[in-house]
Amino acid sequence: MRILFTGGSGKAGRHVIAYLTAQGHRVMNVDKVPLNHPDVHDLIADITDAGQMYSAMRTYAGFDEMEAGTGAQTFDAVVHFAAVPRLLLAPDPETYRVNVLGTYNVLEAAVKMGIRKVIVASSETTYGVCFSDGVTDPKVLPLDEDYDIDPMDSYGMSKAVNEVTARSFQRRSGADIYALRIGNVIEPDEYHRFPGFFADPGVRRRNIFCYIDARDLGQIVDLCLKKDGLGFQVFNATNDTNSVCQPNAELLDRFFPGVPLSREIGPYESLLSNRKIKDVLGFAEQHNWRRYVPDPAA
Ligand SMILES: NC(=O)c1ccc[n+]([C@@H]2O[C@H](COP(=O)([O-])OP(=O)(O)OC[C@H]3O[C@@H](n4cnc5c(N)ncnc54)[C@H](O)[C@@H]3O)[C@@H](O)[C@H]2O)c1
Repeated sequence: MRILFTGGSGKAGRHVIAYLTAQGHRVMNVDKVPLNHPDVHDLIADITDAGQMYSAMRTYAGFDEMEAGTGAQTFDAVVHFAAVPRLLLAPDPETYRVNVLGTYNVLEAAVKMGIRKVIVASSETTYGVCFSDGVTDPKVLPLDEDYDIDPMDSYGMSKAVNEVTARSFQRRSGADIYALRIGNVIEPDEYHRFPGFFADPGVRRRNIFCYIDARDLGQIVDLCLKKDGLGFQVFNATNDTNSVCQPNAELLDRFFPGVPLSREIGPYESLLSNRKIKDVLGFAEQHNWRRYVPDPAA
């Protein structure tokens, strides 16, 4: 497919783009800073500018595309990752403005230019625990996609609003728009952090102990691109197990006493459930942390 990717120069995007190009997709990166990938054209643009987003949706994805003389084409799909990616990087109103206005612009431009598939980066923070003031509990565990999300911070709020915007554009256009509630992204060179998580698992409580390997996130995005006809969907994007070595029985007892369980959960199964991406998209994780870090519990 020919894919317009926003935010591809960032932590998650660069690994997802590498995965997508390895699958044979043609990718153009729309970002404020270049990715400098040999097979990917960088279009320097700002998602908060609607005109720039409309223009970007129909353009050459590289000089080679001018050769056919058939004019600039629209893209087959948009993957939208550009954002202020957490709290406390920018003042709260700026985080909200960039994420909400930027996502509105990308979605409107995509559907009005006739693009029929958009994947949007949402976040684990929509569940309201990650960036809460003080230590708060989820209403139920494991967290799945039909949870009543209730963030209290500007970043989580922006992502929750973006899901509503995405659903609205899906209804109007009939395009497929899938929002990924991405867990804490782990790059290949970050596994050295895991023994620290095992020694002090409380540092992962705000992430509900979950993680997503950046390359496995690439697989999830690719599966979303290949799946059609689902309308608007929300998918949690996490690996199969938690990012700590302690079993759920211990984690629940120590960190979430009193939080009810909606179902039985496996001994190490991710408390931010990835069942839906496995059942609906056929996700099969390739990069469980146990491939890279000795498991003290083994
Ligand atoms: N990293 C995580 O753990 C995590 C977890 C959940 C969700 N997410 C979401 O995944 C996406 C990618 O996150 P990341 O960690 O790679 O973030 P990142 O900051 O590393 O990358 C974001 C990219 O967006 C670009 N960008 C920012 N504002 C822009 C603008 N106005 N116009 C154009 N480009 C702009 C930045 O230049 C950057 O390259 C974000 O939407 C983020 O909210 C990330």
